[in-house]
Amino acid sequence: MNKGAKQQVIEEPLLEGKNITLEGLTKKHVSQRYADWLNDKEICRENSHGRYLNTLEMTENYVTRVDHSETIAVFAIIDKHTSQHIGNISLGNISWENNSAEIAILIGEKDFWGKGIASEAYSLVIDYGFNKLGLHRLYSGMTTRNKAMIKVAEKSGMSYEGTFKDAFYKDSQYCDLAQYAIINPQHKISGGKSG
Ligand SMILES: CC(C)(COP(=O)(O)OP(=O)(O)OC[C@H]1O[C@@H](n2cnc3c(N)ncnc32)[C@H](O)[C@@H]1OP(=O)(O)O)[C@@H](O)C(=O)NCCC(=O)NCCS
Repeated sequence: MNKGAKQQVIEEPLLEGKNITLEGLTKKHVSQRYADWLNDKEICRENSHGRYLNTLEMTENYVTRVDHSETIAVFAIIDKHTSQHIGNISLGNISWENNSAEIAILIGEKDFWGKGIASEAYSLVIDYGFNKLGLHRLYSGMTTRNKAMIKVAEKSGMSYEGTFKDAFYKDSQYCDLAQYAIINPQHKISGGKSG
């Protein structure tokens, strides 16, 4: 796998959708507004954020860390009509040995929920993971009560793989986690990738 290619392309706007652009997350995207997405109870209800206060400094540190990482690629989701940074989507836990990665998303601007943004962002990132990075398997986990996220996974062509009982604990409650995944269709056609 050409790891250098990831470093190169992640610096600039690279994935153009109909309504959004995904660009490599850098310090220019850091704002108090972004930091506060991770302090918002409603935004963080179904994810691991929001357990501790997230500060501007912590956000800056995160961006610096991921900018130099070879195992996570984070993209800022930019609304094309307003040029606003409305959320992030990542390919994380990249395993260059297994050619797999985990997709996670957070749309921090609630006005943009329910407009198909997550589905569009997933489609762009899946295409990037398969066709630019050459990955074989992409997966996503979500709480079983996160119906919007389950819809996004299904619309993205992911298949349900199973449920981890009580794997998520928040607000004094356990919740089951569902896992969805998609295999690179090119690899299926060719009967598997040897390396
Ligand atoms: C979950 C989240 C990513 C969804 O993003 P989104 O851009 O609003 O999703 P989309 O508009 O692409 O699609 C969501 C689909 O779910 C549906 N949906 C939305 N809310 C729903 C609900 N409460 N119950 C059932 N379906 C719902 C929508 O109608 C849409 O389906 P459709 O295309 O058939 O109409 C976004 O709300 C978010 O970032 N939430 C906070 C962080 C989070 O939960 N991240 C995921 C952690 S795993």
